Amino acid sequence: MRQRVRPSRPAALFAVLALWAVLPVTAAAVEQPPPEMSSSAPRPIVGGEPAEVSEYPWAVYLVDSSGQQFCGGALVDADKVLTAAHCAVDRRPAGLRVVAGRTHKNSQQGTTVGVGDVWVHPDYVTPYRGADVAVLALDRALSRSTAGLATPSDEDLYRENTRATVLGWGARFEGGQTAERLRRATVPVIADADCAATYGRNFVANAMVCAGYPEGGVDACQGDSGGPLVVGDKLIGLVSWGVGCARPGKPGVYTEVATYVDRIRARF
Ligand code: ARG
Repeated sequence: MRQRVRPSRPAALFAVLALWAVLPVTAAAVEQPPPEMSSSAPRPIVGGEPAEVSEYPWAVYLVDSSGQQFCGGALVDADKVLTAAHCAVDRRPAGLRVVAGRTHKNSQQGTTVGVGDVWVHPDYVTPYRGADVAVLALDRALSRSTAGLATPSDEDLYRENTRATVLGWGARFEGGQTAERLRRATVPVIADADCAATYGRNFVANAMVCAGYPEGGVDACQGDSGGPLVVGDKLIGLVSWGVGCARPGKPGVYTEVATYVDRIRARF
């Protein structure tokens, strides 16, 4: 789908949008009101609601050296944060910090901790090929609860229509700036066959899981990458990619945590 022989204008536009959809945001952390809903207008995490980090103590976000939030993550061990590979690749530990326990970016709530080591899955090339997973080793252990990891025996959690929660500080609508506070949305898991029908060979069934409503309207968006998709306190996915945000027929694609659980645990 990304390799067109003769790039027509719509194809070129699509390529730009698809690329933009996987790039972590660097925009200012100012929350904007969602625009008016219309069929062509961007849709408001898009369909979510405010959440408190106290309800999700393992939900964290990543900031760059200028203090800008650009991705999400989850505390999975006292001193380990799970995130997407595309959030961590080519970043030096010194240029990365993890913010834990802070609902509002504009507050001093919680703690900021440095990163001592960045591990990116060795098979990672682009989000479209899978293995979009990374583990950050923190400078010090945090005393907050950790998220559980789905394992291959959790097939039921990946079954079609399982209600999952996606969390993040990312954009509230396609093209928008990242949010000022944590938000959450509920999205149903989509069957692999349906996601493959939508995304063709960019959807790698054992490496990815899709979630969203056929009509769109609810989704992760830019800046949510690396953030958690959970069922209860169990992490089943990491925000990885999509085409735009919350578009009808274009579900969010998540790293399938259960597939990578052994590689992840090997970092603990
Ligand atoms: N890759 C984006 C990021 O870096 C997140 C894309 C998720 N898109 C979606 N429609 N679910 O923040």
